[in-house]
Amino acid sequence: MQADLAKTLERIADEGPAGFYTGKTARLLETEMKAHGGLITRHDLGAYSPVVRKPLLGSYHGLEILCAPPPSSGGQVLLETLNQLEGFDLATLGHNTPPYIHLLSEAMRRSYADRAYILGDPAFNPDLSILRFLSKPYAEELRRSVNLKKASKSSTEGIERTKEGEDTTHISVVDAQGNTVSLTVTLEDNYGSKIVVPGAGFLLNNEMGDFNAGPGITTPDGLIGTKPNLAQPGKRMLSSMCPAIVLKNGKLCLVLGSPGGRTIPNTVLQILLAITHFGMDAQAAVTTPRFHHQWLPDRIDVEQSRFPEDTLRALRTMGHTVHQRIPMGCAQIICVRPDGSLEAGADPRWEESAAMGF
Ligand code: DON
Repeated sequence: MQADLAKTLERIADEGPAGFYTGKTARLLETEMKAHGGLITRHDLGAYSPVVRKPLLGSYHGLEILCAPPPSSGGQVLLETLNQLEGFDLATLGHNTPPYIHLLSEAMRRSYADRAYILGDPAFNPDLSILRFLSKPYAEELRRSVNLKKASKSSTEGIERTKEGEDTTHISVVDAQGNTVSLTVTLEDNYGSKIVVPGAGFLLNNEMGDFNAGPGITTPDGLIGTKPNLAQPGKRMLSSMCPAIVLKNGKLCLVLGSPGGRTIPNTVLQILLAITHFGMDAQAAVTTPRFHHQWLPDRIDVEQSRFPEDTLRALRTMGHTVHQRIPMGCAQIICVRPDGSLEAGADPRWEESAAMGF
């Protein structure tokens, strides 16, 4: 298999993108598809080209945040949530206290609802009005709808209804000149579809699951059936990847990202807030317990056994459903200190995590 992969890499090295999307590699992939009733043809591969997109740019208390634009929802969820939170004094609430978790969950709920209502591949959603959703006045509108003492309800009003794993990798890099890369790469599940293209040595992903499940099937359990992200020929599925670069006064101060499917923007959010408001260093910010709200299912997922019972009880009293979940994400971050030195945080949730300097 590694020898096959080496030949594939040689074809790419010799011919550039054509070494993958056309010729022998494409033929091998098509053969594998045909053998198992798959849909991708050589012509689909030949017609594919990557699109270079401008990152979304947002701000939070003077920080500039560059992050992934559609067809990822990472940037929208992160920036829309930060915009809402900018109007609250989070530091006074205290890190991971019930009011803090409540407030973040309410903001997350609203951002993920918008994700479901509006986001999908821009090529198929020409009226995608993402900038309105990232505006500060819109955040103010959302903030006004938050009750500080009581959970709101995730409602699917206005959505047509007839009846919707985790193993991605994130790498953050900063070099001696301050150049930075925030890279999240995904096959979707562990080993993707678990199929290696015979003779080509690479795995096929199973990203089709990132499309909405089917028309009309938005359910309280969290299936989403809204139109913008329904599967269509040639359409790119909605991602949640959220590689992010944070600047202060135009200078790099933080680079971060994580795997974790739909939880990713909330992982990035909570790390950014832990550093900005709670004085945590890179490692503490990555290690501290995390939680997640994604509109539907209408509940707060908290990392199991990592939050005090009192905190969970207080959230239930506010009307939240609280659900214990497995560890959330695997963030890799680098902070650039004011003196230019680097400080890394590698997520202890996965054994493979590591911070390295060369
Ligand atoms: O693009 C996305 O949002 C998903 N394909 C990411 C999947 C993922 O993070 C799974 N990893 N744990």
